[in-house]
Amino acid sequence: MTTTGPAPIRIFDTTLRDGEQSPGATLNLAEKMEIARHLEQMGVDVIEAGFPITSQGDFEAVHAISHELERATVAGLARCVPRDIDRAGEAIAGADNTRIHVFCATSKIHREHKLKKAIDEIIRISVESVKQARQYTDNVEFSPEDGSRTELNVLVDITQAVIEAGATTINIPDTVGYAVPHEYGHIFAFVREKLPVIDTKDIYLSAHCHNDLGLAVANSLAAVQNGCRQVEGTINGIGERAGNAALEEIVMTLATRCDFFNSTANINTSKIYPLSRMVSNFTGLSVQRNKAIVGENAFAHEAGIHQDGMLKHRDTYEIMDPRDVGIPASKLVLGKHSGRHAFRDRIGELGYTVDDDVLELAFAAFKDLADKKKDVYDEDIEAILDEQLDHSSHYWDLVRFQVNSGTDLISTATVVLRDSAGVEALDAAADDGPIDALYSAVQRITGVATTLEDYQTRAVTGGKDAQGEVTVRVRHRDQTVRGRGLSTDVIEAAAKAYLSAINRIRSIEARAVPATTMTETDEAVVDVAQP
Ligand code: KIV
Ligand code: ZN
Repeated sequence: MTTTGPAPIRIFDTTLRDGEQSPGATLNLAEKMEIARHLEQMGVDVIEAGFPITSQGDFEAVHAISHELERATVAGLARCVPRDIDRAGEAIAGADNTRIHVFCATSKIHREHKLKKAIDEIIRISVESVKQARQYTDNVEFSPEDGSRTELNVLVDITQAVIEAGATTINIPDTVGYAVPHEYGHIFAFVREKLPVIDTKDIYLSAHCHNDLGLAVANSLAAVQNGCRQVEGTINGIGERAGNAALEEIVMTLATRCDFFNSTANINTSKIYPLSRMVSNFTGLSVQRNKAIVGENAFAHEAGIHQDGMLKHRDTYEIMDPRDVGIPASKLVLGKHSGRHAFRDRIGELGYTVDDDVLELAFAAFKDLADKKKDVYDEDIEAILDEQLDHSSHYWDLVRFQVNSGTDLISTATVVLRDSAGVEALDAAADDGPIDALYSAVQRITGVATTLEDYQTRAVTGGKDAQGEVTVRVRHRDQTVRGRGLSTDVIEAAAKAYLSAINRIRSIEARAVPATTMTETDEAVVDVAQP
């Protein structure tokens, strides 16, 4: 006998669109591709890969990802503006599994102050936009932006109108993170009750929550309890301001409390941890230690009573098995005698899938490290892999450097860099501290002036011989970019981190095409701000 339970909740990932809107989190195309591949392997149903009208980079990401992936649906975002929708349509043209996501603000405050349009006009524009999007794909999502602050009767009217126009998913966003769970859940129950067409036409209602009050995950789950069948969010909860709902928290809540929600998501949860690390490394946004599911302390038991209970029976204090989210059970140690086989096996156990080229480079880096450091831990291997998977272009490489510093001394640094044509350049600088001097010397060679906004260093593992990891955030003109460097010599890690940020600036500048101007004066534009 086969029993059929409720259909799984659809998981819609917007790490590459809403997530990338976090300040300084700009990802390049190769990084977006890598994240998208991992999202697909994890089983995510829909991947929002970008907002094509906003930049050439977003256009290319939606184009490339929608053409490469085979299972996941790939979405491009568009305002209710004809040229936005055409651009999203162009980006997905020819790909198999696509969606256009159009949005228009509907709340009173947005209608009056931002759009300066009455509701009838907004409904008309939204209907036209959905119809236009349907010319490119029969999978169209509509979002009434600031939906949670929109009058319920307005939400019902616009939802009905866009469904008639051909929308197949209606996403009701809590754009400003204002809603509380009971209230947000009620919106879904209300709209469903008023519009039986949602069930008869098999329309998906979707939740999209921002975390300004720290309620994004709770709100999303309240929506699920009230008939919402798609949840949107980002890996690690990254996103503008306080971020979006963290997908790993939603997925693990559904898996762990399936008894309560009576539904789950079709996600291979063991891919969560490696993907969380990848997103953190690529965006430079570190995960707080006590973050649920993927934080360093999420499965650490410090209190004696807890440790005692755990030894007697894990279930006393552990509601999830760390292996279920892809955290390896043991911190296996490799050393200089470990071979390629052991290394490859460990990579697999850590949840990474890498091609042969990356494997070879990572193995060489591992051997190099094992020469300098007796024991190589999982964290070391992860750091090596993350470095190999860092796809930023290398306009300049560090050849050598020397730094002198000491108490009551002016620090000096001499640096040699090699450019992509193989030409070496040497320069030196003196400054207040060793890092200041180092970065000034790099600026003199590269000619890229920056302001250092953030500088962080940490030891990847314990021990005096640990690898040091440096992450920096630098500002150049109106761009904020980050860089990351790794070495057993922390000054070298600092140099590499800064250089990787400079390389990123170069590559953004080399690719820059004039972005589409979005102004209030553009007649067709109804909504100027990014959501
Ligand atoms: O937060 C928001 O309203 C959005 C929409 C585009 C769904 O990101
Ligand atoms: Zn959003």
